[in-house]
Amino acid sequence: MRRKLAAGNWKMNGTGDALAELTALLTAQPDPSCDVLVCLPATLLHRAAEAVRGRYLKIGAQDCHAAASGAHTGDISAAMLIDAGASHVILGHSERRADHGETDAQVRAKAGAAQAAGMTPIVCVGETLSQREAARALDVIAEQLSGSLPDDARFVVAYEPVWAIGTGKVATLDQIAEIHAHMRRLLTARYGDAGQPVPLLYGGSVKAANAAEIFAVPDVDGALVGGASLKAADFAPIVAALSAQ
Ligand code: 13P
Repeated sequence: MRRKLAAGNWKMNGTGDALAELTALLTAQPDPSCDVLVCLPATLLHRAAEAVRGRYLKIGAQDCHAAASGAHTGDISAAMLIDAGASHVILGHSERRADHGETDAQVRAKAGAAQAAGMTPIVCVGETLSQREAARALDVIAEQLSGSLPDDARFVVAYEPVWAIGTGKVATLDQIAEIHAHMRRLLTARYGDAGQPVPLLYGGSVKAANAAEIFAVPDVDGALVGGASLKAADFAPIVAALSAQ
């Protein structure tokens, strides 16, 4: 049985005051029947982990370095993130692929490092608008999965079409269904039974108003939510919608 996962990605938002949103989320959704994770800026991880200690809410990070330690000024290793309280780490988000030129090979190396340290990577893939318009979405996703995923199947995959991130443009339910079925087939071909527990998340302008219909799409096991994860009032109904599935 695959676990459902509602994951938030705060991106580069939030200072200490914002942690009140996590406690508000715990109050609004005291006992959801899905996994819930919030991926925070590294500066908040430790305080967040302390704030939610003993509760169901998991804390995640948004990137890690591929090396275990060493001369990499400004970077953070997977072991450091675990030490700060993170159980998951988002890797290969399209914003990192665009802003930092991250390649599939780098994402794969980071995912391996995260697993070796004991964290669960959330590997992000997604086509751009021009790739979709050129009818290349399926090939792009296949290439990114093939190049970015580690050999050990203990990870989460997030499908985030680049054109749907922060734009208010959600992929249609048919588009989501097509890509998720494609990803599930590719995972089965590569990992066999070991790939079955891998949750497939959709990301891109998910909000309370569209969450339930997206969660009802076959092969969608949850969401990776950006803007609507910043406020408990917006994220709690998304958690409730997944919990009700
Ligand atoms: P939005 O939900 O703000 O579109 O962001 C999606 C995303 O990039 C999550 O990682």
